[in-house]
Amino acid sequence: MDQSAADIVIFFGRFHPLILHLPIGFLVLAFLMAFLSRKERFAYLRPAVGFVLLLGAISALVTATLGLMLARSGDYSEDLLFIHQWAGLILVILAFSSWFLYRQKEKKSTDKIQKAYWASLFVMMVFLAGAGHYGGSLTHGSTYLTQYMPNGLRALAGLPAQEKGPKLIKDLNEADVFADIVHPILEMRCNSCHNASKKKGDLQMHTRTALMKGGENGPVFVAGNVQESELIRRIHLPDIDDDHMPPKGKTQLSPDQITLLEWWIDKGAPFDKKVAEVQVNDEVNAILRTLADPDANKTEVEKLLASGTALADPEKIKAYKSRGISIKPLSNKENWLQVTLYKNDPVNEVLGELAEDFPEQITWLDLKDTPLSDAGMEHIAKFKNLTRLRAEKTGITDKGMSYLKELPYLEFLNIYGTSVGDEGIQYLQNSPNLRRLYVWESRVSKNGAARLQESSSQLEVNLGFEVTVVDSLTVEVLPVAVGN
Ligand code: HEC
Repeated sequence: MDQSAADIVIFFGRFHPLILHLPIGFLVLAFLMAFLSRKERFAYLRPAVGFVLLLGAISALVTATLGLMLARSGDYSEDLLFIHQWAGLILVILAFSSWFLYRQKEKKSTDKIQKAYWASLFVMMVFLAGAGHYGGSLTHGSTYLTQYMPNGLRALAGLPAQEKGPKLIKDLNEADVFADIVHPILEMRCNSCHNASKKKGDLQMHTRTALMKGGENGPVFVAGNVQESELIRRIHLPDIDDDHMPPKGKTQLSPDQITLLEWWIDKGAPFDKKVAEVQVNDEVNAILRTLADPDANKTEVEKLLASGTALADPEKIKAYKSRGISIKPLSNKENWLQVTLYKNDPVNEVLGELAEDFPEQITWLDLKDTPLSDAGMEHIAKFKNLTRLRAEKTGITDKGMSYLKELPYLEFLNIYGTSVGDEGIQYLQNSPNLRRLYVWESRVSKNGAARLQESSSQLEVNLGFEVTVVDSLTVEVLPVAVGN
């Protein structure tokens, strides 16, 4: 058969999964009607049973024909396909024979014909269920139905309990690069189409032999050569490209998962090596650490926010809101609070009250452009979980800054346009989590900023483009935004 004829066959074949619902519907309905019509109340159904059976038989024949066409695509595992095909063909025969026996029985209802009719109907239902089940396993994999089964039901069905979330690696150095790191990624994102029973592109990935064998165009990776590896090439194609893997609409690989696959191929695609035996760079190392501990790369602040806090009294929040004070959750899933105060709010006093009511929950404070003064800063020291403070263009001074040294989680601080100077920012020397500090148009000098910068490699002090206070005696040139 030439290529275009083969394509037409598969084109029609793809209607199989659509059409197959007709025979299922008709045959189940015919069975139900035949069964019910034995009762006097439903006797009126009996004359129609033959018609519905015939519809079922014809649609089963059409479905089976389309199924045989689809099977030519070669995307399916032979063993399951064999069972499914034969179950389907026998079903067609049983559907026609049930219809035939129904007609005989209506003409001349002997005991023998009655028995044969009912036997045919029952066996037909068994084959309908069997063909359906194996067909489902072909398209969705044999674990499709049980994958999301609750553990209680799994136990009843004799299946092992489902793991919650990805399995964590206990000892990273001892972990097997392929079995523990690479294979679980393929399993999660590729196996639904490249597995024991389904081999799209003639490619299976469920075992290492299958993976090494490759697909219809040969091997899918070249050990030690990421660029030449078809598997990686396809992952990096744009989503809309037909060759992109996993295909559009399916859950995509994360950047971390891609990095790990590339790392594996780059290091020669080992199948029997431990992590300790394979070279690891910083980027890969950071990702690997998350396989043992999902929080490994989280900052202290991220961990704090993820760990949550107690729910603030909703009545108290309401009372603040009715006074026009903007207080709301950081997100609708969290108890953390963010507060924004404005020019006309009595800022220092309100902060005093808030520190009484929500010392734990307030983590973001936006006080820019308000009459905040050092007296208010004293209250701010009581928000132990404060991570972000905007105090730009306020009346705070070096003295006010001294209160901030009490805040262990402060990560972001903006004091642009205040009269805070070098002395003030030195109070931040021991703020372990401070990442960003904005000091432009304050009295902080380049030298002062550089001195603070030395205390932490994670800290970025931003002096802005214009520095209004320039120490005229400074001759050395310092970078404006001091690096990460
Ligand atoms: C939804 C189904 C589906 C998923 C999921 C899927 N693929 Fe595919 N894959 C296909 C189909 C269909 C083909 C064949 C058509 C083609 O060549 O584009 C194919 C072909 C391939 C081929 C080419 C084989 C050859 O020799 O021509 C590679 C390589 C591949 N897939 C890799 C992957 C990887 C890696 C993943 C997981 C990250 C993945 N696929 C996930 C459906 C899928």
